[in-house]
Amino acid sequence: MARILGIETSCDETAAAVVEDGHRVIGEAVATQIEIHKKYGGVVPELASRNHVVDIVPVVEEAMTRAQVGWSEIDAIAVTQGPGLVGALLVGLQVAKALAYAHDKPLIPVHHLTGHLHAVHLHTPDAPRPEAPALPHVALAVSGGHTALYRVDGPEQVRRIANTRDDAAGEAFDKVARMLGLGYPGGPIIERLARQGDPSAHRFTPPRFKKGNPLDFSFSGLKTAVLTVIKGFNGALPEGQPLYDLIASFQAAAIDQLVDRCGRAAESEGVEGVVLAGGVACNGALRAAARAALEAKGLKLYVPPPRWCTDNAAMIASAAEGRPLGEGLAPVDQRLNALGTWQLSAARS
Ligand code: KG4
Ligand code: ZN
Repeated sequence: MARILGIETSCDETAAAVVEDGHRVIGEAVATQIEIHKKYGGVVPELASRNHVVDIVPVVEEAMTRAQVGWSEIDAIAVTQGPGLVGALLVGLQVAKALAYAHDKPLIPVHHLTGHLHAVHLHTPDAPRPEAPALPHVALAVSGGHTALYRVDGPEQVRRIANTRDDAAGEAFDKVARMLGLGYPGGPIIERLARQGDPSAHRFTPPRFKKGNPLDFSFSGLKTAVLTVIKGFNGALPEGQPLYDLIASFQAAAIDQLVDRCGRAAESEGVEGVVLAGGVACNGALRAAARAALEAKGLKLYVPPPRWCTDNAAMIASAAEGRPLGEGLAPVDQRLNALGTWQLSAARS
C-alpha cells in the first residue's frame, strides 16, 4: 500500500491531503483565500503567494493529524508543479521539497490538470470506492483556468482533443458575475441566482467555428452578448427578475456548449463514459444536464463530489500513485539545485 501526502498551492487554496492507494482520502485540510481576494473581484497573485506562506505548514500538519499518521508512514510527497500562479506554486514546491529532503521521501511533481482528472477516484474511508471509469473515456476539465477535453487511454496516456479558443468557462462565470456586480467567485453565485430565472429569456447563439476543431470551446462571444444585454439597461445594473433571467440564460448557454462537446467527443472517440472535473463541475445544473444528455446517448457520466472538483490536494496525491518514483524528478531537481540545494546537502552531511 502506498500512502502519499499531496500538496496543492497553484491558485487560491492552500491544500494538503493524505491518500492511500490513489483513492482513499484519510486526512485532508484546506485553507481557502476566497475572503481575501473577494474585495478585488479576482485572485491577486502576490496576495495568494503570501497567504500560502502563512497557511502551508499548519495545513500540512492538520492533514497529517486528521490522517493519524506520522512521517514514517508516508511513502512519498506529491506536489502540484504547474500550471498555476508562479509565486503560489513556488510556495508548495519549496515546502514539498524541504519536507521530502528532511524526511527522506521521494518527491513526485504532478501536473495540475492530471490531478483534476484523478478526482473521480477519491472517497473517504467510510464511503465505498467509486466505480472507476472504463478506459478509454473522455474527460472534460472545466475550471477557472482551463476548459479542455481529453481522451484518456490510461493513467499516463492522456491526449487533449479540444480546447477553449479564448476564455475558460469558469472565467466566463467569474467575469459575468463581476460585470453584474455580484462578487467572487462568480460560479456559485450565478448557480444560486439562476435557479430563480428563466433560462429561455435570452437566446444566446452558440459559437460556430468556420475552421479548425469543431469540438473547441469559446466563451468570449457569450460574455460579450451578456454585456450587450446589460448595456440595454441604460446605465443601471439589472436587478430582481431581469437579473435572474439574464443569469439563467447565460448559465444555460454555457452548459449547453459544455454538454454538447462532451456528447460529440464521446461519440467521435467511440468511448462509453465521460468524466467531468474542475471547479465548474460543482455546478448542479451542469451535472444534471450532462447526466441527462449523456444517458440519453447511452453514455455514462462520472463526476466527483463538489469538494474534489475545486482545487484540492487529494487529487494531486491520487495522480502521483503508481508513478514510478523518481520519474519526472529531474526538472524539479534542477530547479532545486538552482535554488541552492547544495547548501542543504552540505548541512545534512
Ligand atoms: O478548479 P478550480 O477550483 O480552480 C482552477 O483550477 O481554476 O475552479 C475555480 C472555478 C472558478 O472560476 C469558479 O467560479 C468556478 O470554478 N466554479 C463554478 C462553481 N463553483 C466553482 N462555476 C459554476 N458553478 C459552480 N457552482
Ligand atoms: Zn484547478
